[in-house]
Amino acid sequence: MNATNVVITEVHGKVGLIRINRPEAMNALNNDVVDGISAAIDRFEADDNIGCMVLTGNEKAFAAGADIGFMKDFDYMHAYKIDFITRNWERLRTSRKPVIAAVAGFALGGGCEIAMACDMIFAADSAKFGQPEIKLGIIPGAGGTQRLPRAVGKAKAMDLCLTGRMMDAAEAERAGLVARVVPADQLLDEALKAASVIAGYSMPVTMMVKESVNRAFESSLTEGLLFERRVFHATFAVEDQKEGMAAFVEKRKPTFKNR
Ligand code: HXC
Repeated sequence: MNATNVVITEVHGKVGLIRINRPEAMNALNNDVVDGISAAIDRFEADDNIGCMVLTGNEKAFAAGADIGFMKDFDYMHAYKIDFITRNWERLRTSRKPVIAAVAGFALGGGCEIAMACDMIFAADSAKFGQPEIKLGIIPGAGGTQRLPRAVGKAKAMDLCLTGRMMDAAEAERAGLVARVVPADQLLDEALKAASVIAGYSMPVTMMVKESVNRAFESSLTEGLLFERRVFHATFAVEDQKEGMAAFVEKRKPTFKNR
């Protein structure tokens, strides 16, 4: 275990766990937290033994948003000059290895946004999602107005962003924001279990899957299908494809070598 106080990292087999640890502030995201998450991703991406990551908080809060005290006296020029958000919040988006957000309790504002920047969200039945920025006189600034409508459609995204209300785990699952809802006491186990399944596959292939699914949000269907086809063709140049198919034919478990 490696603790940089507000962000704790652990290795569970082939899974890197990143835990936000500011319980006294509902895991509000200040620079230390966001820099800590980025550093943890750097470290796990560089580690060939890690195939998947899980980002989590505690039972009360995944993260209740950007730290309001930290931002409250910002002026425009300061926010612009420090490149607020862009400077260090984008690291999740650029991660090539898959990241599962395991969300219990509040995922609000920037907390909801970093959960959405992960590849999928597992929610505890206690989870509450929302973009309450409007109540503070600001708008979402880390992708809320862009990723939420892509996940749940315009109607619900407008509802959440304009009213600032929270959505519980059941509604979030119905709306398509979360991949799975599980009892709160099983959240981390379930997320680690799924991450471990993913980490057991060929790492370059999991990265290709992630890249291809993400392409669906960046391109027309024709372009996306072309991208997929080219990457699919490329998998026949991956040694692990030979191993995966040989293992099936020989009725044994494959041993992937990540090449
Ligand atoms: C700073 C926060 C915080 C936040 C909670 N705390 N959220 N501090 N920034 N975002 C602190 C509280 O001030 C309090 O500190 C402690 O955490 C416990 O919170 P309480 O409010 O006492 O708990 P509770 O009554 O259970 O309410 C929980 C809550 C509420 C519903 C999550 O704290 C809340 O509404 N928080 C703000 C949510 C929000 O507006 N998020 C969006 C932020 S803007 P003390 O010291 O009093 O004990 C944002 C912009 C994103 O994210 C743009 C891109 C980054």
